[in-house]
Amino acid sequence: MTTIDYSERIPNNVDLASDRRLQRALESWQPKFLDWWQEMGPALPTQDVYLRTAVDVGREGWAHFGHVALPEYRWGIFLSERNPDRTIAFGDHKGEPVWQQVPGEHRADLQRLIVIQGDTEPASVEQQRQLGMTAPSLYDLRNLFQVNVEEGRHLWAMVYLLHAYFGRAGREEAEQLLMRNSGSDDAPRILGAFNEETPDWLSFYMFTYFTDRDGKYQLGTLKESAFDPLSRTCEFMLKEEAHHMMVGTTGVDRVVTRTAEIMREHDTDDVARHGGVPLEMIQKYINFHYSVSLDLFGGDTSTNVANYYTAGLKGRWMEERRSDDHQLRDAIASIPFIEGDRLIEKEIPALTALNVDLRNEYISDCSNGVKRWNAILADAGIDTKFSLPHVGFNRQVGTFSQHRITPEGKVVPQEEWDARVGDYLPNADDKAHVASLMQPVYEPGKIASWVAPPRSGINGQPFDYEYVHLA
Ligand SMILES: [Fe+2]
Ligand SMILES: [Fe+2]
Repeated sequence: MTTIDYSERIPNNVDLASDRRLQRALESWQPKFLDWWQEMGPALPTQDVYLRTAVDVGREGWAHFGHVALPEYRWGIFLSERNPDRTIAFGDHKGEPVWQQVPGEHRADLQRLIVIQGDTEPASVEQQRQLGMTAPSLYDLRNLFQVNVEEGRHLWAMVYLLHAYFGRAGREEAEQLLMRNSGSDDAPRILGAFNEETPDWLSFYMFTYFTDRDGKYQLGTLKESAFDPLSRTCEFMLKEEAHHMMVGTTGVDRVVTRTAEIMREHDTDDVARHGGVPLEMIQKYINFHYSVSLDLFGGDTSTNVANYYTAGLKGRWMEERRSDDHQLRDAIASIPFIEGDRLIEKEIPALTALNVDLRNEYISDCSNGVKRWNAILADAGIDTKFSLPHVGFNRQVGTFSQHRITPEGKVVPQEEWDARVGDYLPNADDKAHVASLMQPVYEPGKIASWVAPPRSGINGQPFDYEYVHLA
């Protein structure tokens, strides 16, 4: 059964109607979610938005597009199709059938993994709450809201698992997911990057490029889980997530394109005067968002993650495409490490280096964006090249957090860092300039000065389509 039942109060493809207790519990969580959405979701008043809604989880034609009033969006519970022959791909239980229920001994760990993932979803909606006020076009405004409603749906995805499989403790965690808030002093979100502000649209594009991409890799490891409902949930979330990263990738493309245009038009690097974002500012935004996103991969060595792997809770990225024994009992991996003020590699058991393994996959994916943006500059005849800063740069988590490391990877004393940090990360002037560009453009077909229009619209619609009707 893959088709989604929209006749229910909570659209779903999990036959929710057959479990009255679960249905009632989720129906009592629903109004709390809607209250949270009103209070913490998009602040800009709108009549309706051209959104996609999932209608199926199969390969084709899974989404329907149409104008919807945001609070009436049909958030629901959608799991990918079940594969009845699926077996565990890694760890001690490799080759055994996957689990349809939570084994008692893994209950606490699985619940924790789901809560941490679930906490990031509403956090990003909160971080992006004010952005509608300064959208560079109706097309961008629509993309923001699409990302927001889908992050809201990802919260539903995790809350469903908590309610359906973790009893009373799960229901309590589901409540807490609406109580913590991004940046709150008393009850912040669990992970640091999700308590940072997303104050402007350059940050939003960077966030959807770098931070949503972290989400892709985390979901990729949970998709491998032996707990089949978690795996199927994450598989469908990944499908939605692809759009969020498209928003980020093409968003940064369009800023770079526009900056290159202004540079050529006025024959100057000083595009700030002409309403653009200078290349070195873009680089600083890359440095910031990339480094805070690296923190999301956790400590460089982790026995927790080794245990999750051995137990079958969380696999590696593309586990089944790896050509080793999928147990790693004697395997060795090398990870970067600092000795004195020298960066070296050290060898450790591969199981405890799994965070670095995932981080490395992420880093090579991120470098594709940099190549793309450099190709835009090269096509415009500009020699400047963007780069990803060193993995140890500006880190708050893990072995590098004890050191100050430049984007080039040099370990420097604190005083040198303090003197140079404004060259590495967006400083007050950079932020003020970007903020000054954030003037809303709500006329169909028009766009702000600092960003190029997209190459194509959404679902075959033109750029000047009325993607959003403001209130
Ligand atoms: Fe998400
Ligand atoms: Fe996302």
